Amino acid sequence: MAQILKATDDSLELCKQALESSKVIAVPTETVYGLAGNALDDVALSSIFKIKGRPLFNPLIIHIDCVESAEKYATFNSLASQLVDEFWPGPLTIILPKKGIIPDLVTANLDSVAIRCPQNPTFLKLLKALSFPLAAPSANPFGYVSPTTAQHVKTSLGDKIDIILDGADCTIGIESTIVDLRDPNKPKILRPGPISKEALEGLTNVKFEQKRASDEKKLRGPGMLKSHYSPKSPLEIIPLNSLKDLISSGNKLKFAFIFQKRPKETTLEEQPNIYWLSKEGSTLEIAHNLYQLLRTVDTLNYQKIYIEAINENEGLKAALKDRLSKAASK
Ligand code: TXA
Ligand code: MG
Repeated sequence: MAQILKATDDSLELCKQALESSKVIAVPTETVYGLAGNALDDVALSSIFKIKGRPLFNPLIIHIDCVESAEKYATFNSLASQLVDEFWPGPLTIILPKKGIIPDLVTANLDSVAIRCPQNPTFLKLLKALSFPLAAPSANPFGYVSPTTAQHVKTSLGDKIDIILDGADCTIGIESTIVDLRDPNKPKILRPGPISKEALEGLTNVKFEQKRASDEKKLRGPGMLKSHYSPKSPLEIIPLNSLKDLISSGNKLKFAFIFQKRPKETTLEEQPNIYWLSKEGSTLEIAHNLYQLLRTVDTLNYQKIYIEAINENEGLKAALKDRLSKAASK
């Protein structure tokens, strides 16, 4: 069973040794926990796919400690440089033409590579101590909800790895924004996330195409497939009014009901199968709590989980809407 290691110098040394001997460990990031291995080592890479149960055709993100490291692995253009100057370290993953040193296993034989410089201080410290980048998908079994605490990783992958490096709860709580920057004149958002379309366009004055749900089937990565991030209990997204109507038509304890913010009606608040993602509706708080709450509710074996719809298409709400619809589709 995996050990959860507090982030001390000794445990960072243990992590370093494990990674240098082709082992795979779980690491904290500001978005979600990652399942990390040496991105230049086929043995480590094969283990990542095996432990996660992930198909080999789905490429991995490599994590580096600074822009200079990233330039060893991908060919930058000026748009990419501008974006990483502003948003790294942070929740932005960029896709660029890869350099030859990156193994085909990382990129699923594509000629591009996904790169991110994370913000979590524990993870950054570990990356700085290493002489190679770390490939890391989210540390969940393929298709399940991403982990935002060390305990989440232990619950679902604890029997498959030895070390979980604890870097506290993920501050953001949903996966990074992924942008395809191979053509700097036509950048595309492949996965909406914490760095919004508005923020990307505001900085660069370039229009970013947003991949739509209907394009998703054509894409190869599960981050872009509709059925992903799903709890085991069926999840249905419904508007706030319908959620309230459903409850008032006779609260059925076999169902869980999730609100975006704490309902004002005390009659609702007191019922055991009623949950909320935030106290007052703060988007940051909703993102932070979403996966955590979905995982908790999922352990309680409800026949069905009803969750309040997110309607907005701007900012972080766009990313939350995307994650909800992926969690709800089977
Ligand atoms: O926040 C995050 O990005 C987290 C943390 C651990 O960094 N990682 C993460 O990785 O979400 P993963 O593997 O769960 O999702 C990465 C997505 C996948 O959908 C994959 O298909 C896509 O990135 N991807 C990776 N390389 C790509 C490439 N060269 N072209 C297109 N998509 C790529
Ligand atoms: Mg994932």
